[in-house]
Amino acid sequence: MQGAEPPFPQRTQVAIIGGGPSGLLLSQLLHLAGVQSVVLERQSRDYVLSRIRAGVLEQGLQALLRKAGVGDRMDREGLVHDGFAISFSGEARRVDLADLTNGATVRVYGQTELTRDLYEARDALQGAIVHEADVVGVDGIDSASPQVRFEHRGQTHHLAADFVAACDGFHGAGRRAVPSSAIKTIERVYPFGWLGILSETPPASDELIYAHHERGFALCSMRNPQLSRYYVQCAADEDLAEWSDDRFWEELKARLPEGVASGLSTGPSIEKSIAPLRSFVAEPMRYGRLFLAGDAAHIVPPTGAKGLNLAASDIYYLSEALIAFFSSGREAGLKDYSDRALRRVWKAERFSWWMTALLHNFPSLGAFERRMQTAELDYLFSSRAALTSRAENYVGLPYD
Ligand code: APR
Ligand code: PHB
Repeated sequence: MQGAEPPFPQRTQVAIIGGGPSGLLLSQLLHLAGVQSVVLERQSRDYVLSRIRAGVLEQGLQALLRKAGVGDRMDREGLVHDGFAISFSGEARRVDLADLTNGATVRVYGQTELTRDLYEARDALQGAIVHEADVVGVDGIDSASPQVRFEHRGQTHHLAADFVAACDGFHGAGRRAVPSSAIKTIERVYPFGWLGILSETPPASDELIYAHHERGFALCSMRNPQLSRYYVQCAADEDLAEWSDDRFWEELKARLPEGVASGLSTGPSIEKSIAPLRSFVAEPMRYGRLFLAGDAAHIVPPTGAKGLNLAASDIYYLSEALIAFFSSGREAGLKDYSDRALRRVWKAERFSWWMTALLHNFPSLGAFERRMQTAELDYLFSSRAALTSRAENYVGLPYD
């Protein structure tokens, strides 16, 4: 296990809670601009690197990784996708992203790989990362010198900083440190989950397939040409133990067009899990000297794979603002951070919600609403204007 050992630094410029993609990318960008930080991560590195998450990278995230000096492996091994398919009424229809967006594409590269690259880059620069550091509170966030309190192997430690970046995910400690009167949370929980598997089989197709079907949504995705990721919509309280691999493959095939199902390579799953679907935003994303970024501030349902990409745009805005402050004392970026990040967050929330609503079988939908879904899909593929709007969201809205 790698990471800093005691005695830990007691003071830094930016204390970063969370060593997921948000926290690591922030520490790397700050370091390259001469700003010090310490990352406090509750879990071991092996645990962080065992989490399976999505991996469709927008252009903005790709550019940011290159700027952070961690784009080489992504550029070598990541798969460029210039389109994807949506299947409905028994047929798969292609969305030609590159054609609709003047050449924009996305890159398929697993979040696990990206996180590994970030850890390696931080190690190469001797970045301070404390693992098994469970942050239990942040004191003095409305003063000029906030302090992060954390527990490491039974001992309590304190880290003083000029600023605190809460990059500690949905269940983290950062958001909880903000007085409830100073933060508003807006949430929608969807009445279903995604049952996902990873299998060492070639993907169903060269491109992702999102399937609308009366039995429920399905998705064929991939990590690389030998590793596939598949999902089927399931009940929110589904029991994983009831899903043998055979049952999963049968259900997936039943939701795919005949031509795709018949050519599907099946095999044993190497991971199987159920994820709930939620839309969530906490606003504002700043309180005093504490800034929220990534999953700590917002969650999108996975349809459209915007979670990681939104974390990246937050980190872009926040790193710019902190670097401007430390290099020239300018505070404008820090003041604008929350508004600027939230404008992009809400647009991605809207797109993820739209894609989720369009493609899933909601238990409450009557015959009329189901027909509205297929009519909308039919319209989408008959109108270049409609498809262009969806494509520009899928490849990622600009960081403005
Ligand atoms: N103290 C220290 N670390 C903590 C604490 C705490 N109290 N609470 C949570 N953490 C750590 C978690 O262990 C995790 O490693 O914070 C990290 C947060 O990482 P992520 O959940 O991955 O969130 P983020 O870095 O914002 O990444 C963005 O994009 O695709 C989505 O949800 C997906 O993880 C992904 C996210
Ligand atoms: C994934 O590969 O896990 C994935 C891809 C696209 C999505 C969601 C998840 O929209």
